[in-house]
Amino acid sequence: MPTIKEVLWNASRAKEGFKESIGDMSYQAKGILFSEMLFLVAAVGTARPRRIIESGRARGLSTSILARYFHDSEIISVDLEDCPSDVMHVNAIKSSWPNVTTIRGDSREVLPEIVQAGDIVLIDGPKSFRAIVLSFELLAARRPSLVFIHDLYQGQQERELLHRYVPEAIFSDNPSFVQHHRDLDDSCWEIINKEKLGHWKPFQYAGAPQKSYGPTLSCIPPRAGRDYGKLSRIMLQEGFLERANYLKRIRQETEE
Ligand SMILES: C[S@@+](CC[C@H](N)C(=O)[O-])C[C@H]1O[C@@H](n2cnc3c(N)ncnc32)[C@H](O)[C@@H]1O
Repeated sequence: MPTIKEVLWNASRAKEGFKESIGDMSYQAKGILFSEMLFLVAAVGTARPRRIIESGRARGLSTSILARYFHDSEIISVDLEDCPSDVMHVNAIKSSWPNVTTIRGDSREVLPEIVQAGDIVLIDGPKSFRAIVLSFELLAARRPSLVFIHDLYQGQQERELLHRYVPEAIFSDNPSFVQHHRDLDDSCWEIINKEKLGHWKPFQYAGAPQKSYGPTLSCIPPRAGRDYGKLSRIMLQEGFLERANYLKRIRQETEE
């Protein structure tokens, strides 16, 4: 089970090899930051996983990094849709990297069918509570060796709940990790800012100070004795409550 200390240590050792494998790749819209992908590499450590299952591919920036760095692993990438603006990028990845297979479908149905014991799972769609519920369902029934979820930054309710119920979860916004590896993202921020790809800026969200650096990748290592079935029911309920409160707020605002 990787701790943040081990991730920090592994990241500094893996960084040069990681930089070599990404080479001169350019950042793509909706993609996971390069430093966040180094976080994944460092959490996996020296193990060479047989399979990595990715949920949420879009243009396949993360797919491509996984295919390059883990060139001996099978990368199975699932997405709900083949968005026309993404297809060209994904076809190019598949023709360069025969270790990549794509599946079209809802990961909430597909992953519980295909994930096997020992797989690494990366979830970057669905998001939020849905991603957490999916990860707990997989940990309960399919025994992946690690699950990563993207977009869990500080200040979100779901992040607080993860800290409470799964204290072994670790995050790429760890200050020491950010301090040592944010340089990998210089080219990403340049493109994000130039092409106005989103609201993320380092430590800034929609103009307000943001506690996390970037969208943030979390790693949930399986822990013996955790009742993931019970945790997924709790998260399902919390997700419903959050959605209901959100809809109530919107209704009140439109009535005012
Ligand atoms: C932020 S993008 C992924 C970016 C990608 N990981 C990268 O680094 O380039 C999110 C993707 O998740 C997909 N998605 C959302 N919900 C999903 C679901 N339930 N099952 C499969 N894919 C889903 C969306 O179609 C979208 O393409």
